[in-house]
Formats: sequence, C-alpha cells, structure tokens
Amino acid sequence: MNRPAIVLVAGGTGALGSAVTQAFVDAGDSVIVSYRQRRSYDELLAQLRPGAVAVQGIELDAGDEAAVRQAVAACLQRHGRIDALVNAIGGYAGGAPLWEQDGAVLDQMIGMNLRAMHALLHAVVPAMRTQGAGAIVNVAAMSGLGPASGSGLYAASKAAVLSLMATLAEELRGSGVRANSVLPGTIDTPANRSAMPQADFGTWTAPQDIARVIAFLCSDAARAIHGAAIPVRGGH
Ligand SMILES: NC(=O)c1ccc[n+]([C@@H]2O[C@H](COP(=O)([O-])OP(=O)(O)OC[C@H]3O[C@@H](n4cnc5c(N)ncnc54)[C@H](OP(=O)(O)O)[C@@H]3O)[C@@H](O)[C@H]2O)c1
Repeated sequence: MNRPAIVLVAGGTGALGSAVTQAFVDAGDSVIVSYRQRRSYDELLAQLRPGAVAVQGIELDAGDEAAVRQAVAACLQRHGRIDALVNAIGGYAGGAPLWEQDGAVLDQMIGMNLRAMHALLHAVVPAMRTQGAGAIVNVAAMSGLGPASGSGLYAASKAAVLSLMATLAEELRGSGVRANSVLPGTIDTPANRSAMPQADFGTWTAPQDIARVIAFLCSDAARAIHGAAIPVRGGH
C-alpha cells in the first residue's frame, strides 16, 4: 500500500468507525470519512487526535447507490486513487424471536449490513482493479457464523455479507486487491453500555483494538491475508 495511503472509512463517525479513523490518522494516512449527519462528523473532528494529513468528510447515504458512486468518483477525482476501503457502516436489531420480527426489520438489516457494502464495492472495486492494488475490510460480526437467538435477522444479514466477501475474494484473486472481514463480538461502546448496564464490560472488546487489526489488514504487512474472516473478540 502506498504511504501515506488514501483510505475511505465508510461509517467512520460511528463507535468503531471513529476508532478506525483514528488508527489511520495515527499512521499518517489521508482519511476520507463518510457521514450522514454533519453533526456526527463535527463530533468526530472534535475528538480526533490530529495527524499529519487532514481528515476529509463526505456526506453519504449508503442506501443510495447513485450517491455512493458519485461520492467515490469525487474521491478518485480528488486523490487519484483509493488504497483502502473499510466499511464500518452497519446496525443491529434484535431482542425478539424471529417470528416476532417483521419484514421491515429484515429490510433494515439487509440495507445497513449487506446493501451498503454492495454499493461501496460496486463503486470502489473497479477503480482498485484498475490500480492493480487495494485493500478492503468489512466489519461483519461473530453472530454471522451461527445461530443467534434473539437476533436472527441481524445474524442473517451478517452471514450474507460474509458470503459476499468470500465470493469477492475469489473473484479478486490475482488482481492485487485483497478483501477480508473482521468479526467482532460485543464491542465496548457507549451505546452497548447504556443498553446493557448490568453486563461485565471487561469481557467486551475495545474499538481501538479492533481498529488496530483493521489497519493491519489494510497494510502491506498483511499481504498474505486474503479472503479471511477474522474473529476480533479478544480472549474472553
Ligand atoms: N457495536 C457492537 O457491539 C458490534 C458488534 C459486532 C459487530 N458490529 C458491527 O460493527 C459495525 C460498526 O458498529 P458500531 O457499533 O460502530 O455502530 P454505530 O456506532 O451505530 O456506527 C454505525 C455507522 O454507520 C453509519 N451508517 C448507518 N447507516 C448508514 C447509511 N445508510 N449510510 C451511511 N452511513 C450509515 C452511521 O452513521 P450515522 O451516525 O449518520 O447514522 C455510523 O457512522 C457495524 O457493522 C456493526 O454491525 C458492532
């Protein structure tokens, strides 16, 4: 990967995404962060430790494929390339058995966890193939690997995106572009702390620890890793 790299962090204002943004800023890379609400981006800028290169924000609703294509085209026009794409866009719904969750929840999970990634890949992969280089990391979840009582629709959307990434990796073989997934368990975020105040927070994984793995996967040090789905839930 070129250094400083041009890195697109989709969902880079979220709890995990902001740690990913910080990890690349710390490495001296040029980071483009997608946001939906300007306020989230302003909050990110206020909390970031500044780096050698300024962070750039782009407004993006990943549910709008045309808007994603336009945003990626604008990045390519400005920077000439995208070295790494990290997708930290996603969301959770659960707390009820499958038969109590209607199709609207399924649509929401598929939209946030699968369609968003597809829209990004559709826009970014052709440019990376032309470059003959690139690294892509998607944030899936451990629950994508097996049955997940109470969060079946979320788990199904994460299983689907793992399948998408596995196929992508096969299709990219020999192109110079690498594609991998990380699978967090519960992340230690403010939202999780307020949703589960009785939980043992010490068993959760810090966003910064996951961000370090993601940054490694994007680096040349990880050039042997392609088509992997890597658990990032610590040793608990
Ligand atoms: N938190 C956990 O315990 C946990 C566990 C396993 C896996 N994960 C996965 O890790 C990833 C990040 O989770 P997180 O806890 O950091 O979530 P988060 O704090 O809610 O952040 C999600 C990010 O995605 C953005 N986003 C959502 N829908 C979007 C859309 N349609 N277009 C553009 N941006 C959109 C959000 O932007 P706005 O703020 O503007 O909505 C936000 O920046 C997700 O894929 C999640 O499933 C999380």
